[in-house]
Amino acid sequence: MPLVPMRVLLDYAAENDFGVGAFNVNNMEQIQAIMTAARETESPVIIQASRGARSYSDDAYLRHLMLAAVELNPDIPIAMHQDHGNSPATCFSAIDQGFTSVMMDGSLMDDGKTPASYEYNVDVTRQVVEAAHPKGVTVEAELGCLGGIEDGHGAGLTGAEALAHLTDPAQAEEFVAATGCDALAVAIGTSHGAYKFTKKPTGEVLRMDVIKEIHRRLPNTHMVMHGSSSVPRELVDIINQYGGLISETYGVPVEEIQLGIQHGVRKINVDTDSRLAITGAIRKVFAEKPGAFDPRDYLKPARAAMAEVVKARMIAFGQAGHAGKVPKVSLEEMGRRYHDMAPAR
Ligand code: 13P
Repeated sequence: MPLVPMRVLLDYAAENDFGVGAFNVNNMEQIQAIMTAARETESPVIIQASRGARSYSDDAYLRHLMLAAVELNPDIPIAMHQDHGNSPATCFSAIDQGFTSVMMDGSLMDDGKTPASYEYNVDVTRQVVEAAHPKGVTVEAELGCLGGIEDGHGAGLTGAEALAHLTDPAQAEEFVAATGCDALAVAIGTSHGAYKFTKKPTGEVLRMDVIKEIHRRLPNTHMVMHGSSSVPRELVDIINQYGGLISETYGVPVEEIQLGIQHGVRKINVDTDSRLAITGAIRKVFAEKPGAFDPRDYLKPARAAMAEVVKARMIAFGQAGHAGKVPKVSLEEMGRRYHDMAPAR
């Protein structure tokens, strides 16, 4: 089946009370790892690429790699998502490249660093919704600002500053009505990257209560948790055992994500855990076989290590076993549905 609109996966996930992992990719091995995990667990998948990933891999390579994933896995619904589009132009170019979902991150200005005003956010998000929906393409928006920086994108907020930029549930209600976005990324104290928390997070720093309140006000809005790698100790230990240097750090516990899923979280963004798995596997080969120089000697174990972590997340988020049950809806059909749903102006 061709790439599917992300909204179809999220609607189906909401009806069946589970979450869908959205895994970041930059290259062939990462796409293969996700597809292996999806096949082995019979999971629908969201594959996402940041602006940095698109420029690293080049859009044309990425597009053809995704077409290969579709060709080789005809029974698995796959949505292709632009992660953190910094401007309407970035989202429009993703749509031109065949992405079936885009994130317009209007929580930041188009430099991807400076927190933007609410009005700016509504304006750019609305522009993207108006262009994307007639084509059946899904739009994720963000309200509030996440901590950290990913691929150069992010305000780099930490500690008290990050807590000052959490999503305001009352404003979320207004924002969703004003923009018509399909999914909303919420700021609840998570951040991109490996260094999220200095100890196992409590409710003071990981504000699951904000998710519950947004879900109470907006029971039909799909929430997105960014910065949701769990940073497993075992993966960090492998890196450090083989010459790496990752300091003591804590991620988002899988149980907290599962709690979020019970309260309206439908998309869970995971990148760092894949990166840790890949790096640990490569370091191990380099340490144990200093004579190895065929890239396959280390890329194969790296790919397998990423597949394992992705598989574990797919099972934990509840998407496993659902690949064959997601309704088959094309972009064209989705475009017609948005047209019928649109309020008369
Ligand atoms: P992690 O760095 O926690 O994997 O988050 C990734 C992410 O949110 C991508 O948008």
